[in-house]
Amino acid sequence: MTERRKIIIDTDPGQDDAVAILLALASPELEVLGITAVAGNVPLALTETNARKICELAGKTDTKVFAGAIRPMVRDLVTAEYVHGKTGLDGPDLPPPSMPLQPQHAVDFIVETLRNADVNEVTLCVLGPMTNIALALNRAPDILPKVAEIVAMGGGLFEGGNTTPAAEFNIYVDPHAADVVFRCGRPITLLPLDLTHKCLTTRARVDAFRALGTRVGDATAALLDFFERFDEAKYGTDGGPLHDPNVIAWLLRPDLYQGRHINVEVETMSELTIGMTVADWWGVTDRSANVNYLRDVDDDGFYALLLERLARL
Ligand code: RIB
Ligand code: CA
Repeated sequence: MTERRKIIIDTDPGQDDAVAILLALASPELEVLGITAVAGNVPLALTETNARKICELAGKTDTKVFAGAIRPMVRDLVTAEYVHGKTGLDGPDLPPPSMPLQPQHAVDFIVETLRNADVNEVTLCVLGPMTNIALALNRAPDILPKVAEIVAMGGGLFEGGNTTPAAEFNIYVDPHAADVVFRCGRPITLLPLDLTHKCLTTRARVDAFRALGTRVGDATAALLDFFERFDEAKYGTDGGPLHDPNVIAWLLRPDLYQGRHINVEVETMSELTIGMTVADWWGVTDRSANVNYLRDVDDDGFYALLLERLARL
């Protein structure tokens, strides 16, 4: 096997984050150096607890989990219990975690890990508001060359927003952090709503996880059953979009995805459109192409990968 890809997963679990973490922990191609929790879908005390619950569900209790930013860089925290439930991981009944939370702050872990890494050695997988990442880059710009790539779920153009008409949740919660990340100069791959809205948790797909007959399969089906209800009602579809696991799936099977390198900037001023990702898909400006913006996915291939990998846990 080729050398394992070193990754840090920054996350706000969140049912879809949970499935992304399961996919990463089930995939030998990836070496998860740490999981850093951030406030987002629910407050930090819950996102870090949920991250540990998922590691225990996966049977990977040696995974290092860190707690990071308790709030966005500038704006007040906005959470999404209306989607994820009051625990942020509603659906399955997962026991409180017994594995420890690491004492080091997540931002210190990110900075220290990258400072000790080789150039282009670590990929940052960003599944929630980008607060931890931006704080690390601002505090220690010397770590930038060590970042191989930033792969993030967030934003949207053709699908508009899911939190305001203009903004997707991760970017909306911390637009100032997203602005730091999009301007950082390192390779960025973005998986926006334009893509994730093509990955619906249809009844057949959720039933396939349940048919695994495993604890992970049952928990995944319960996570998705709960998570999808809000978007099913909103969009009138069979199932809801499954966002975050696409970040990990892209690392494993980039052939399932298509997009183009374009300019993406973030609105940080206007209250009407704050958090909007202004994506120059048609190249109407001369702004530099800073993002590999993925718009299309083989959704059957994505779910086949997900099922095959989760069956291993
Ligand atoms: O807009 C979808 C994103 O916001 C996903 O990452 C979901 O987990 C929430 O964080
Ligand atoms: Ca998330």
